[in-house]
Amino acid sequence: MIICICARVSDKTIERSARSGQSFDDLQFEHGVATQCGKCAGCARDIWDRCRSGGNTAHITSEAENSLA
Ligand code: FES
Repeated sequence: MIICICARVSDKTIERSARSGQSFDDLQFEHGVATQCGKCAGCARDIWDRCRSGGNTAHITSEAENSLA
């Protein structure tokens, strides 16, 4: 699925980048994600964070954030 319409970057590209050890800045520099209108930034970061953390901790993180509120 295309996440960044402006740069035509898919979720698979973001996942590959995150799993290869690139930083989010590297992803932006190399593929142009979230560098134009910026509307994809939150979704792209969510995908990137989920892949960097192993994919199963997004729910745990969410609960931790809720307990702080
Ligand atoms: S949709 Fe990604 S910068 Fe516009």
